[in-house]
Amino acid sequence: MVAEKTLEDIPGVGPAIAEKLREAGYNDLLSIAVASPGDLADKCEIGEKKAMDIIEGAKLCADIGGFETGEDIMERRKEIVKLTTGSKAFDELLAGGLESQSIVELFGEFGSSKTQLCFQLAVNATLPEDRGGLDSDVIIIDSENTFRPERICQMAEYLGVDPTETLKRIHVARAFNSQHQILLVDKAMELAQQYKVKLMIVDSLTSHFRAEYVGRGTLAERQQVLNRHMHDLLNFATLNNAVIVVTNQVAAKPDAFFGDPTRPIGGHIVGHTATFRIYLRKGKAGKRVARLIDSPNLPEGEAVFMVTEDGIKD
Ligand code: GTP
Ligand code: MG
Repeated sequence: MVAEKTLEDIPGVGPAIAEKLREAGYNDLLSIAVASPGDLADKCEIGEKKAMDIIEGAKLCADIGGFETGEDIMERRKEIVKLTTGSKAFDELLAGGLESQSIVELFGEFGSSKTQLCFQLAVNATLPEDRGGLDSDVIIIDSENTFRPERICQMAEYLGVDPTETLKRIHVARAFNSQHQILLVDKAMELAQQYKVKLMIVDSLTSHFRAEYVGRGTLAERQQVLNRHMHDLLNFATLNNAVIVVTNQVAAKPDAFFGDPTRPIGGHIVGHTATFRIYLRKGKAGKRVARLIDSPNLPEGEAVFMVTEDGIKD
């Protein structure tokens, strides 16, 4: 095995520049290889020409990753496990539940039950596999301060499992801003070495980004950062054979960036990296409707479910 290369292996990068790179968050060769010269120059306070040379150098040193055969991918897919939503109709829409090794995006207006569904999934993930669970711990990155242990207890009680034991398996971190949210994924990686974590929830994925990157000029940067964040999440899903659930609010008023009010925030970037996209909306008399959009191997369709004190039901 060849020793792993470090930033100092890039031609023209000495200790001083390496330190600047690391301070700017470029901790490995790949992150430099895929950086934009303007970005790197700005963040490290170096000239753009120098930045381009560093990026070219990093491309030569970095392990870009290789190709796998279809057979390898098939082997990995055999490990996929499914998590129940608590509603039969909803599970059927997803051919059995939420799949591991994927990102599931729940998007919808306020009150469409994105957060309630996250709570239910968290409780369900702690259940044994024969009950549709993953027998695992859960990580929740809470960016809107909406985690409510009381709701977890109600749902656990309904399922006949010990509420306190359930709460013990749910690890919650508040994300204070978008950068903090990104760092928490690294933390989650560490936590997943200590506990079996087969479900990670980010509720909401986009609210900090939306609040921080305002104005047209910031859109490209916002999308770039979100893109990297989504790939970190996908990486977690693959490495841990885990389900990732992210929520995304649909702008009620026409969004300044996207004229269409039904388009989820984050636009193409979030949509293209998410494996399954589920649009939630309110129906009549406490009913909720889930619509599956854009799945790689399932037909589009809808399922009706209820949000009750006991949790998500048919
Ligand atoms: P935002 O985060 O604001 O975008 O909304 P959201 O999609 O996360 O909505 P959330 O999951 O918070 O849904 C809130 C809705 O769930 C409320 O309007 C209630 O209708 C319903 N709900 C929450 N708790 C209970 C409960 O204990 N009993 C019942 N019956 N419904 C509940
Ligand atoms: Mg919510």
